[in-house]
Amino acid sequence: MKILCFGSLNIDYIYEVNTFVKAEETISSKSFSKKCGGKGLNQAAALAKAGSQTFLAGSVAASGKFLTDYCKKFNVDTGFVVENPEVETGHAIIQVDTHGQNCILLYSGANRTITTEHIDRVFNNFTAGDYVLLQNEINNIAYIMKKAKEKNIKIVFNPSPLDETVYEYPLDLVDIFIMNRVEGMALSGCKEEYGGDYKRLAQAIAKKFPHSRIVLTLGKAGALYLDDKTSCFQGIYDAPVVDSTGAGDTFTGYFISQLAGGQSIQKAMEIASKAAALAVSKKGATESIPYMEEVLSHQFK
Ligand code: RIB
Repeated sequence: MKILCFGSLNIDYIYEVNTFVKAEETISSKSFSKKCGGKGLNQAAALAKAGSQTFLAGSVAASGKFLTDYCKKFNVDTGFVVENPEVETGHAIIQVDTHGQNCILLYSGANRTITTEHIDRVFNNFTAGDYVLLQNEINNIAYIMKKAKEKNIKIVFNPSPLDETVYEYPLDLVDIFIMNRVEGMALSGCKEEYGGDYKRLAQAIAKKFPHSRIVLTLGKAGALYLDDKTSCFQGIYDAPVVDSTGAGDTFTGYFISQLAGGQSIQKAMEIASKAAALAVSKKGATESIPYMEEVLSHQFK
């Protein structure tokens, strides 16, 4: 069984700040670094570091070659990433504050130049029982979902960052959703938060997508899993919050790697939460994602 992550590759320009810059304000940052990122690349990295046979498909310009080179270090197959000389590599301007929180400004660039020919070529290499993991940072997602379903490939969708395009996708084809509270409220059409009773929110999402399995990530409140037979909750593991960038991607990649590998839901949630806790305790997105050995050996309090 192979896992294809069809998604974004970004150059992350990261600035450490005391507080996020506001309208009409100019501030100085405390540090700057240029790193690998993009939800597609990050989730592919998490899958591979968790031990899955992982393929990344996407698009970059020549300036993005270091992104694919970096992926090879942890055995992500980047043979389906094409080079588009006519555009910029996708990038993100990321501010990280003293609490480790971030805010992100994206420029899609090459990430939104994925052609249907490219998608057809990629899918010639995958068969029934394989998985495709998608986020919302590339174009032609509806086409990818339909193509995957035609071939009986399992579709996992992380609708992040959520925007109006998501509502146009054939979401009834999705096998597994991994979404946060805000995405869950938007996609289910829920106007209320049920006073923090997140199981009710998960049930509202499940009602909207009755054929899908739902994972709801809730930050400090943990994560919830729900399908038509079972539900389970996972709390967070304690770790110093240095930089939360990429923590959600780490959870997603680890959870799907475990699930696809036959692990129980509860164990997959536990491992994914531990991996995410380790990711927030380090700077950066891709490079903060731990390897499985570290996740298993770390002594959490
Ligand atoms: O989820 C974190 C990622 O979001 C960053 O690496 C950035 O590139 C944006 O895609």
